Amino acid sequence: MKIVTCVAPVNIAVIKYWGKRDDKLILPLNDSVSTTLSTEHLCAKTTIMISSEFQSDRLWLNGREENCENPRIQNCLREVRKRAAKSGNNENMSAWNVHICSENNFPTAAGLASSAAGYACLVYALSRIYEIDGDISAIARQGSGSACRSVLGGFVQWNKGDQDDGSDSLATQLAPANHWPEMRILILVVHEKHKKISSKIGMEQSVKTSELLKYRVSHCVPQRIQDIKQAILNKDFERFAEITMKDSNQFHAVCLDTFPPAVYMNDVSHAIVNFVHCYNKLKGHNALAYTFDAGPNACLYMKEHDVPKVLGLLSVIFPFPGEEDSYIKGIPINKDTIPQEMQAAFGMEQQMEGSLKYIIHTRLGNGPKELKSQNEHLLTESGVPKNLVV
Ligand code: PMV
Repeated sequence: MKIVTCVAPVNIAVIKYWGKRDDKLILPLNDSVSTTLSTEHLCAKTTIMISSEFQSDRLWLNGREENCENPRIQNCLREVRKRAAKSGNNENMSAWNVHICSENNFPTAAGLASSAAGYACLVYALSRIYEIDGDISAIARQGSGSACRSVLGGFVQWNKGDQDDGSDSLATQLAPANHWPEMRILILVVHEKHKKISSKIGMEQSVKTSELLKYRVSHCVPQRIQDIKQAILNKDFERFAEITMKDSNQFHAVCLDTFPPAVYMNDVSHAIVNFVHCYNKLKGHNALAYTFDAGPNACLYMKEHDVPKVLGLLSVIFPFPGEEDSYIKGIPINKDTIPQEMQAAFGMEQQMEGSLKYIIHTRLGNGPKELKSQNEHLLTESGVPKNLVV
């Protein structure tokens, strides 16, 4: 018997992946670039136990048993086992089954992308159990495309690759998290009423129907990738912010150009876009940037010294009902009190109370890691979850 527990981070794309050239191997049409967030505030945690006693592979997600036959889970298991067999490690374990138990440290109901952290954590924990070395991004990619970027910390590029077998479609680190320590992130969790279209379905429809997606892939993304890499290496926030916002806008334009359209942003998301542009106008330069994935929540980037003012203005424009402490989670911070004149000069109407559920204040972070303490395991010694939801 062997047991390991690992945590893996969430990543947020600043140049978006949208559209596959191979649905089965999950190969993208374009390169993408992301930032990895700290596991302190957002992460997936996974315990894997392998034993000759287990009758079958089993999986529990957030306390509930799930079907382990899910093709994406099976892809990851098969690829790791193949790699382990090649390396000749732990041959006695090759016929053993695994029990997998995974939890997020943030509410799944918040609608935050959790699959990237989840698959990265699964693959990383499997790689520790089977003791395989080398790149694991190509395996994580086959769970969920964006998961390949969560196996590394800091700023990460997923190279689309050109080979048909996907062997060169890998993630690489552009810079570690400590390259830009002043960078801060606010996740604005927006109240959601509608059930969203999954990214898998949305992408398939866009590839089939959007003319704009073709133009984006051939004419826009290659230059943006070069430019944002330069901005990151030079720690040029202005440039980073501009490219990030433009790429988010273009990605959602592609979604609207899809037929039928895939609508992910809502009125609150658009009010956040307006907020960011008002803030930048007030400052006279791009001090704040937004990006939106396949949902209404916003991810805002800024430098550390801007956080108190941004939070002060957010709480004026998007008033919170009830106790403030429960609305701003993550790194503790005192927000600025906003004087009347600044509020008037800001140029934006106050939004309906409660249009934001809460805010997570976080920073950049490292890739997945193993937690060595026995207390961290999510499975008991007999291989069942400690926290079962009944
Ligand atoms: O990997 P998926 O299928 O969850 O797709 C992620 C797509 C976006 O989040 C919208 C963009 C990205 O690059 O993460």
